[in-house]
Amino acid sequence: MMFSFLKHVLSSDFFQGACDTHCHILPGVDDGFQTSDLAIEALQLLERQGVRKTILTPHFMKEYPDNVKSSIVEKFNIFQAKAAKSTQIELHLAAEHMLDACFPEHFKNGFLTLDNGGVHVLCETSYLMCEPNVSQMLYDIMLAGYQPVIAHPERYQYASKEHYRRWKEKGYLFQMNILSLAGAYGQPAKLKSHEMLCKGMYDFVGSDMHRIDNFRKFIPKLRLSTKEIEQLHRLLENNTALFK
Ligand SMILES: [Fe+2]
Repeated sequence: MMFSFLKHVLSSDFFQGACDTHCHILPGVDDGFQTSDLAIEALQLLERQGVRKTILTPHFMKEYPDNVKSSIVEKFNIFQAKAAKSTQIELHLAAEHMLDACFPEHFKNGFLTLDNGGVHVLCETSYLMCEPNVSQMLYDIMLAGYQPVIAHPERYQYASKEHYRRWKEKGYLFQMNILSLAGAYGQPAKLKSHEMLCKGMYDFVGSDMHRIDNFRKFIPKLRLSTKEIEQLHRLLENNTALFK
């Protein structure tokens, strides 16, 4: 019975040494943090929770045409130097690739992978509908020797169990958004995330942090069963193993 083992994640050293594999903390480039001061405050908050590494994953999508590899690398280097004066947290740069019309261009430029020049490519689709080319794009990523990691699968309203089954069958990895478990994206995403976590369907976990308020509001609402906590530990280990 799920609620017979309630545990307050933040009351423990749960995130000690953890790596966050998804956030929008690189300031002024997407719908995430807009100033470097707020971005540094977010890093300090994660650091206080014990997080040791954070992978910054700005949106690469048609809504942000200026986000291309070269300019983002430049902005990351500037931010990293500034952040290093106020926090010890280790920063890495990747991108969250929307599988939209701009995707082939980013593919051509070379991916900013989750694992620093490794093979893990973070991808997302629209929440409402699966564009017809999504399957082909995911397949092309795999064919080129990369490993697609699908961000927050629980949040895709169109996705049925059959969708998830097919994606897993193709070998795509799933990254859970931790705030989904706490209800930050509504009841359907919350239920799906708990179910998928219990079934061991996830491979990684990320905060997908866009602002501090949302994080502060929903993290304390996390209530997990013992089984879910074990699964979450496994995902945190996978996160860390990205850099081994
Ligand atoms: Fe994201």
